[in-house]
Amino acid sequence: MSGPRRRRPHRLAGALALLLVSGMAGAAAPAPAPAPAADQQQQVQRGEQVYARCQACHALVQDRVGPHHCGLLGRRAGSVPGFAYSQAMKDSRITWDEKTLNQFLSGPLKLVPGTSMTYDGVPDAKDRADLIAYLRHANESAQCRQPAAAQK
Ligand code: HEC
Repeated sequence: MSGPRRRRPHRLAGALALLLVSGMAGAAAPAPAPAPAADQQQQVQRGEQVYARCQACHALVQDRVGPHHCGLLGRRAGSVPGFAYSQAMKDSRITWDEKTLNQFLSGPLKLVPGTSMTYDGVPDAKDRADLIAYLRHANESAQCRQPAAAQK
């Protein structure tokens, strides 16, 4: 009489174990929601398109009309050796991060009066956020990590 009652938990445990195993194999798992990584990748791609506006004067690795952008995040404004910055940029005491870049790019002359960056900035907040995400991503890319870029 007590036999069947005792076996029951075992069968349940067995079924639970099976469920766990099939769950781990992902057999009947529902499709995962889009990972944040995928959103981020899209933002970086949009930002790369916005960056085309900057490439008239800037490149990631080399200085052009403007200083190179590898290593920008975390860098003191006006600190690339050998680049002819305006006095205003050298004296600005800004460190480039998401916040200061967003301010600068929404109105370069407002944040750094006297800057020689003769560009009106990026008026759209979303474009700026995408652009900054791209710059952050680019800063960590292989292109920016090669010794030639790191030395500059
Ligand atoms: C017309 C040319 C031109 C364009 C277009 C331009 N820049 Fe610049 N940029 C410059 C120059 C010149 C400087 C140096 C400014 C100074 O010394 O005052 C500069 C400086 C900067 C700096 C400061 C860098 C440092 O080392 O302190 C940042 C950040 C920057 N630009 C970002 C951008 C971004 C992002 C874009 C595109 C949205 C852009 N610029 C478009 C010419 C340009």
